[in-house]
Amino acid sequence: MKILVINGPNLNMLGKREPGIYGRESYADLVEFIQRTAREEGLEAECFQSNHEGALVDRIQEALGVFDGIVINPGAYTHTSIALLDAVKAVNIPTVEVHISDVTKREEFRQVSYIRQACVKTYMGLGFEGYRQGMLYLKEHCGAGKPRAGD
Ligand code: DQA
Repeated sequence: MKILVINGPNLNMLGKREPGIYGRESYADLVEFIQRTAREEGLEAECFQSNHEGALVDRIQEALGVFDGIVINPGAYTHTSIALLDAVKAVNIPTVEVHISDVTKREEFRQVSYIRQACVKTYMGLGFEGYRQGMLYLKEHCGAGKPRAGD
């Protein structure tokens, strides 16, 4: 099973960025964690990060026919982007939403998630572990032969 792990804006700043909220580990550490998880679980994972909304839309579109599942942390685009929601709906690939922090305990403007409508599951407030949970969920519930959300 091939899983695409997408991280949106400012997640390349992990480790430097508000460590009290996002921790002290870097984006490179996150990629290593995801690749280790993939090896342990017999999955194939590819990581992609961009600060640009259109680049994220392009990457989701390119996943069609290539990836079996997507784990996405859209960063601040979670709260603003209908384009990312539409992209996930368009490809109809099972997608899990992940946030490092628990957004439900943060500012009012973080309480909206557009992408959530198109996602089969959300994990938040678990740090890097949320990405592992997302990958495991896709493996267990959305592997070969399992029905897709939009079917
Ligand atoms: C985030 C939460 C978002 O509100 C924020 O804009 C981010 C990161 C998280 O992983 O906790 O950039 O998605």
